[in-house]
Amino acid sequence: MKVLVVGSGGREHALCWKIAQSPDCEALFCAPGNGGTANVATNLDISAMDTAGVLGFCKEEGINLVVIGPEDPLCAGMADDLRKAGISCFGPGAAGARLEGSKSYTKEVLERHRIPTATYRRFDRSGEAKDYLNACMVWPQVVKADGLAGGKGVFICQAPAEACSAVDAVMEERRLGEAAGASIIIEEFLEGEECSVFAITDGEAILILEPVVDHKQVGEGDTGPNTGGMGVYSPAPSLGQRVLRQIEQRVVIPSVHAICREGIEFRGVLFIGLMLTESGPKVLEYNVRFGDPETQALVRRFSGDLLPYLAATANGKLEGMDPPEWDKRFTVGVVGASEGYPGECGKGGRIEGLAEAEAVEDVVVFHAGTTPSGDGIATAGGRVLCVSSMASDMETARERAYEAYDRIQWAGKFCRRDIGGRVEARRTRVAELMGSKLEHGEVFDSSLPFGDPHS
Ligand code: AMP
Ligand code: GLY
Repeated sequence: MKVLVVGSGGREHALCWKIAQSPDCEALFCAPGNGGTANVATNLDISAMDTAGVLGFCKEEGINLVVIGPEDPLCAGMADDLRKAGISCFGPGAAGARLEGSKSYTKEVLERHRIPTATYRRFDRSGEAKDYLNACMVWPQVVKADGLAGGKGVFICQAPAEACSAVDAVMEERRLGEAAGASIIIEEFLEGEECSVFAITDGEAILILEPVVDHKQVGEGDTGPNTGGMGVYSPAPSLGQRVLRQIEQRVVIPSVHAICREGIEFRGVLFIGLMLTESGPKVLEYNVRFGDPETQALVRRFSGDLLPYLAATANGKLEGMDPPEWDKRFTVGVVGASEGYPGECGKGGRIEGLAEAEAVEDVVVFHAGTTPSGDGIATAGGRVLCVSSMASDMETARERAYEAYDRIQWAGKFCRRDIGGRVEARRTRVAELMGSKLEHGEVFDSSLPFGDPHS
């Protein structure tokens, strides 16, 4: 099979790294890729938003499968254009991608299909939104830009003045862009513990992947602004079998069912952001792609060949696949970012020590914002790389990841030192919230049969 991965982040390096190991992979390309994908695939000078370029290359090269990494080309309908041209594609078309591209649309779908979520109001005018906020008796309230905002569109506000300035920033000043600020939603604040679930689906069969926990905030102890993700670990001891079954029954299967009933043919991965609350799991958001850096952890633990699953999903044949095997060991992924992230940061600094880092047992370094430069590698983005480790216990996995991370150098490098550090506290909190007994040592058994949205 000839495969093309679209995107240039850590997620795409992780996907390329895994796909390149498949005996079915005859040739692998990445558009445009980064300094890491260059080692396992052929990078193309085609941007991730260039549908015509991608399509032209696929025809010329006889590509059998395209895997679209980021949300922007999905929302722009790249998968529709590829399928129309007869090219198999992992990733939903524009209709499915709206579940990530429009928060108000997602809320309508959730409500229509009675999938648990926070209560909300939608506003198209800032004045009405501010009148509503000024009359609100319950705080905090959550203000969200409707459109894609690169993870910067959510404001948790403690009081009316703060919420009204968020409304002005989004709707009046259009600080998140013209389209993202055309409307907003104001949502009930949910108290609880966050988690995410990934479900691969071809619209019918569902394959729930092993849980991964991300650390979204930039600062240690979950402080500071939200980022794309500063580190991950998997499995998630806080999400025992009972909790995961509840998520599957109450959220995952109803979500895929809802998408199907909306008339959307969804072939890809549904990434569900959840809040585990006292009244059960509630959907915070849908994403229509793999997470970054969650994928860097998933590919380390996915022990079989991922490519047949991606191809089966793209071709509507997931039902016939056996559940995959997972490595039972723990993986930890520490993201190294450049000073200033998630704001503006410098680029072009030389990165040293990558080979030394990968000399640490069971460590793989996935590149994100990097680019080949002369005979080496230079920084090219805020999140520069993700150092992933594996070990039979969490502590050793953490030690290995940080030991390897410390062997890498570039100017202005920083990371969070507490990735995977809150496992016990989280386990206790989830058990309290979800009313289940502590489930020591219990992990999700993904060898159980797939869910069937029609049953
Ligand atoms: P979203 O992009 O909708 O997932 O929101 C980004 C982050 O904001 C989430 O990961 C949560 O930490 C937080 N958040 C979003 N909506 C809510 C809510 N209704 N209640 C509490 N926290 C929220
Ligand atoms: N790590 C969160 C995301 O990919 O959206």
